[in-house]
Amino acid sequence: MAKPFVKWAGGKAKLAPRIVAEAPASFSRYHEPFLGAGAVFFALEEARPGLQACLSDANQELIAAFRAVRDNLDGLVAALADISGRYLALDDEGRRRFYLDVRARPLLDPVAAAARFIFLNKTGYNGLYRVNASGGFNVPHGRYVNPRVLDREGLLAASKALAHADLQVLDFAAACERAEPGDFVYLDPPYHPLSATASFTAYTSGDFGPADQERLRDAFDDLTRRGVSALLSNSDHPAIHELYAGRAYDIQAVQMSRAINSKGSGRAPISELLISNARAIHDSRFTIHDSQTAP
Ligand SMILES: C[S@@+](CC[C@H](N)C(=O)[O-])C[C@H]1O[C@@H](n2cnc3c(N)ncnc32)[C@H](O)[C@@H]1O
Repeated sequence: MAKPFVKWAGGKAKLAPRIVAEAPASFSRYHEPFLGAGAVFFALEEARPGLQACLSDANQELIAAFRAVRDNLDGLVAALADISGRYLALDDEGRRRFYLDVRARPLLDPVAAAARFIFLNKTGYNGLYRVNASGGFNVPHGRYVNPRVLDREGLLAASKALAHADLQVLDFAAACERAEPGDFVYLDPPYHPLSATASFTAYTSGDFGPADQERLRDAFDDLTRRGVSALLSNSDHPAIHELYAGRAYDIQAVQMSRAINSKGSGRAPISELLISNARAIHDSRFTIHDSQTAP
């Protein structure tokens, strides 16, 4: 079974079976505009082999790595075997220096760049992706005794699952515009933070703030108007309830445990929202019953 080949903050491995179960019985193409590590895509592809998928994310390095897994598996495996062998042969201090050296040197060759991206993900702190203002990766070295940098079988399974997928670097709004009536879209944005300190939105050099949450809600409304089935996850926060209120959307609370959180207490299950437009798209007169939020 194909699974994510990188760790990713907000990864949806646990929620994936629920999304698969809630997907429409039949649809034309699948769109995932906030791909991340692709947990939902891999689960859906397993349930529906041959799925026509349009996958995208704003993170250019992430999409480049997906493309290398799809198109250059042998080269990628060889590059990972090399980097992993050299790293694992070192002692603790040697590994730390090696990591910092790789981190400091972005590569232009796409296969080497993808190997670097996967290596940093597997050996960096908590599998985080964080960049500074100029886009340089700045996650510190992790503390793994024997990190599995190269998983040949996992990469092979992922490569097969991705064989027919379209992979693009896109803002979610442009990705949603590509969806047509009869398609299905799953949206998993960086979540609205539950508290000011819980904010973790630095997947790319740009932040995902309240204006982006509003743009996303507008894109979701637009999909609904155009008759495109969509599901969206977000945090169970009053601001999100308010954003999606006044429409015939089904908003369910689901209990989720978080995969990546530096604080132990943050690993306790928390409530998240799953918002569906299934009922609204069957009402051909979809309207927004709130003059405050109407576009
Ligand atoms: C919560 S993660 C998705 C996790 C994914 N579902 C998984 O299982 O791994 C959110 C993703 O949104 C991406 N992102 C942030 N801003 C974006 C934007 N404006 N348009 C598209 N993607 C964006 C981030 O790079 C990140 O990969």
